[in-house]
Amino acid sequence: MRVSTVQAITDFKAARAVEFFSGIGAFAQAARALNIEVVAAFDQSQSANLTYRLNYRLEPKARNLDSLDFKEIPEAEIWWMSPPCTPFSVRGKRRDEEDPRAISFLNLIKQIGRCLPAALLVENVSGFVGSQVHKRLREELAFCRYAVCEVDLCPTDFGVPMRRPRHFVVASRQRWQLKVPEIPRWPAVELGHYLDREPDAALTVENEIMQRYGRGFDIVDSAYSAAYLTCFTSGYWRCRKASGSLIALPNGGARRVSPPEIQRLLGFCPDFQFPESISLPGRWRLLGNSVDVRAVEYLLNLLELSGA
Ligand SMILES: C[S@@+](CC[C@H](N)C(=O)[O-])C[C@H]1O[C@@H](n2cnc3c(N)ncnc32)[C@H](O)[C@@H]1O
Repeated sequence: MRVSTVQAITDFKAARAVEFFSGIGAFAQAARALNIEVVAAFDQSQSANLTYRLNYRLEPKARNLDSLDFKEIPEAEIWWMSPPCTPFSVRGKRRDEEDPRAISFLNLIKQIGRCLPAALLVENVSGFVGSQVHKRLREELAFCRYAVCEVDLCPTDFGVPMRRPRHFVVASRQRWQLKVPEIPRWPAVELGHYLDREPDAALTVENEIMQRYGRGFDIVDSAYSAAYLTCFTSGYWRCRKASGSLIALPNGGARRVSPPEIQRLLGFCPDFQFPESISLPGRWRLLGNSVDVRAVEYLLNLLELSGA
């Protein structure tokens, strides 16, 4: 079930895109809806790449982006980047540019001036704002004469009962102008719309885990009309504190949220699928790293053809 789509108003005819840190392709999903051709994707995760290929018929390049050279990047008008958030998150101790997981993004920032894509979009956690890496990105964009806007978006802005706040940077030069972002205020949809009718018993949290960690869990009663879930992380399957909400069961227990339910909450199409070889924890891990598809569509719609 796809509850709704951001209305496509920008003409992307013949626009090509490169997706860096492609994961399971939230960008590719949004690009398909807007007629943008993804000409290359890059990610070093084998399971992410298998999933990407199954859904978008494009084989991502299994390449470590720490050392990618601009000559390896195909020509494209749009770049999408969702680099690892650990250098900017509390969980990753906010080591910023000192974190080795920031090297790939710092390398791509250096490639911007060599390729000069007409538009560039970046996703990260709110802790990215004000970091040294953020400063370097803004300096490079200013040096290359990009117009830039930054916006915080959460699935709740699109009426989805899940909190997953993220920070986005959109930059544009020449081909598109940037519209002033207005935070969407879509009507709220109840959590029950996104949940499986007959949840699998295998999702039930084991008694032992409930007894040990139960008090630290966010257990949500889906019958409550204003119920919402908190952000799922890639460690959700371990079921530890702050890794994502659980759903209350009538018998007093709780269950995990299934991968198809998270796919719907993130705005992936109903036909999105994982290769059978990817385990349940593997699916949670990949979904925990992904992005709200509606937010990507919304950002792309901030690009307006110059002179339009
Ligand atoms: C935040 S996730 C992005 C997820 C993606 N946007 C999606 O829609 O699923 C970061 C991704 O970057 C990949 N990654 C991290 N470091 C990398 C590197 N040095 N080179 C290539 N890929 C990397 C990870 O495998 C992961 O899929």
